[in-house]
Amino acid sequence: MRKPICYLAAFLFLFTSFLLFTSCSKPGVLRDAVAAWPFSDLNDQAGLNSQLRQQGAVQFVDLTGDEKRASENDGGDGKAVYLDGSSWFSAGQGANGELNITGKGITLFVRMKADTIKEYSPLLTKSGNDQNMAYSIALHKEEGDVYIEAMLGSDDIGGAHLLKYRVPKEEWLKWHDILFRFNGKISELYIDGVLRDNEVTVGETRDWNHQPVLIGAQYKLPYTSGDSAKNSIESTFKGWIDCVAIWNQYVTDDKVASLSGATQLKNDGLPEYYKEKYRPQFHFTARKNWLNDPNGLVYYNGTYHLFFQYMPPHRHGAYKDWGHAISKDLVHWEQVPQHITPHKVWGGCWSGSAIVDLNNASRFQTGSEKPIIAFITNGGSPDDGFGPKCTQCIAYSTDGGETFTYYDQNPVIKNINGSNRDPKVVWDPKSRKFILSLYMDKDNDYGLFSSADCKNWEYLSTVSLKGVTECPGFQPLPVDGDTSKMKWLLFGANGHYVVGSFNGKTFTPETDVQTIDYGKNFYAAQTWNNSPDGRCIHIAWMPTKPYPGMPFEQQMTFPTELSLQTTPAGIRVFRTPVKEISNLYDKEVKWQKTLTSQSENPLKDLTNDLYDISLEVDVRKAASFNIMVRGATIHYDAVRQMISFGGPTVDSAKTSRSINLGEAPLRLANGKVKLRILVDRTTVEIYGNDGQVVLSSCFMPEEAMSYALTTDGEINAVARIHSLKSAWGGH
Ligand code: FRU
Repeated sequence: MRKPICYLAAFLFLFTSFLLFTSCSKPGVLRDAVAAWPFSDLNDQAGLNSQLRQQGAVQFVDLTGDEKRASENDGGDGKAVYLDGSSWFSAGQGANGELNITGKGITLFVRMKADTIKEYSPLLTKSGNDQNMAYSIALHKEEGDVYIEAMLGSDDIGGAHLLKYRVPKEEWLKWHDILFRFNGKISELYIDGVLRDNEVTVGETRDWNHQPVLIGAQYKLPYTSGDSAKNSIESTFKGWIDCVAIWNQYVTDDKVASLSGATQLKNDGLPEYYKEKYRPQFHFTARKNWLNDPNGLVYYNGTYHLFFQYMPPHRHGAYKDWGHAISKDLVHWEQVPQHITPHKVWGGCWSGSAIVDLNNASRFQTGSEKPIIAFITNGGSPDDGFGPKCTQCIAYSTDGGETFTYYDQNPVIKNINGSNRDPKVVWDPKSRKFILSLYMDKDNDYGLFSSADCKNWEYLSTVSLKGVTECPGFQPLPVDGDTSKMKWLLFGANGHYVVGSFNGKTFTPETDVQTIDYGKNFYAAQTWNNSPDGRCIHIAWMPTKPYPGMPFEQQMTFPTELSLQTTPAGIRVFRTPVKEISNLYDKEVKWQKTLTSQSENPLKDLTNDLYDISLEVDVRKAASFNIMVRGATIHYDAVRQMISFGGPTVDSAKTSRSINLGEAPLRLANGKVKLRILVDRTTVEIYGNDGQVVLSSCFMPEEAMSYALTTDGEINAVARIHSLKSAWGGH
């Protein structure tokens, strides 16, 4: 008799173990969450049981068939809740405040299916505005598109991070596994196991948000702590929620996969960047989001570094990053995640420069790499509660520009006046000092400072440059390529400049104020330090209105080589596109033609949107000629010896109004004028007479690839035209 009992006991033991194993193996995925609600009831099945409080009528439903199987496969229990748009749940701050996530790790998971999609449908919120929200996941309908959006508030950036995914229309009303995770460096949004958005994301989750965690709703602002009667809901979700879970850590790939019912994560679901209709194809743009000034331009060990003012949405203006791109040839850029990011104490990263400390004067060197030192304005704004008012700080790299560490004795120049900013540092071989120029935020003043070690800066003098503010460039350059004839070039953000002498203490201008660029989209230029062959390479931000439907905003000019050359009028800046543009050359066409108003259009065969066009035009028998580029016109007036550019802009496109896009004097030499024209999808850069005058402007191209060369008299033109390949081929 004993044996059957033994067998039965053994069988029961094995059976219950099996049951326990199977029923926990799936929820086991949720076990290490701080809270997980699979919605069989109001209980939290992980952590401390942050039990939900139900608001309004909710319906717990048993999923059936495929929906049940999918739920179970994705870590759920086959049960879901239906919210009818007037019901939701509150989880408060958790049983023990554990939903107030702190630190550098967080993961949010929601499995849901929408019934109807309204303008804004919150799924999981601990919300507020940019400056006080903690985290949220929501559906957002905008201009006919539906996005899944995840947001994370962080005081380190004075705002919130946003990741989003545009849901294809046929999937609006399907089940989706939404997973957002953040590890203090990067944040990622996975939809159904596929990576759909990511972003360099610094800081820690904002941990003082007093709003309760809501599921299926969001509170209206302002939210009043403690007195729930004073608060009302501003939007709700209508549909099914199978599971919501929150972790105070960045969960593993395996977990993301199993929560999404996938065997393996897919990282190839990001939007196809760089091919968009208005994406410049050989001018630098950020992969997505806003950029402005070029920063920290430095060449080191085979690589050009291009940092840039970078700002994703939902940040306070003070809290910009130095976004980062690298290139071997100034033409093909790769945006890398190694940003220089806001510093907790010193605030955001405004414009500045970088040098290679070849002699280790700073003593920052630790290994074999020379230190690279970045000079950054802390964009602090105490009136808004962010950091101290604009000071000059340094961050240094001892690994060749991969990572940067803030100097522990910052600032190296304390605030002198207002929002003084934009330190540009160069090496002065004559005084054997580093020279720093700084916009003083007072009239048109730039302060000059010197240092032997890049840490201790001595004020030298102040120089004023009429009509100019922000982003100085101040550096020695040879005249006519002769290094025994050095002059100093001083320019400001709008491209106005003077050339003169610098005695190690004061600068004496020797020219009138001139302009480096006559175009309408040119600002905040900077030159590369430590360039390999002594070239002075220059790039500027092209401020423009956003182009419709583009994930990025703003672009850079094409890099140019800048030189000082003697002209009858005095020493002038010349700029020509860097020679590496030839790395993009595709087909070449060359011809020489005499053209009249009756001639066939010699540019009729141009059918591309990217060109490098060189023309030498003899205009002795004409009063003018025109070059038409996709609806915009370059006009040369041989009588006034002026070049002008005009056409539709992104702003005027709807009315097709032609806008003045720049005008410049361009002298004839022996009756001839030389033009070099770079055409990209949204820019035209015109270099007249070997770079003596330059116009950089953005335009709105017409759809047709239409080009023409016309004249009112008779011209003789020598042309060399290269169509260009996209620089983004490899991305
Ligand atoms: C110029 C500028 C700089 C400042 C930066 C902030 O465009 O205003 O003076 O450092 O932008 O992004």
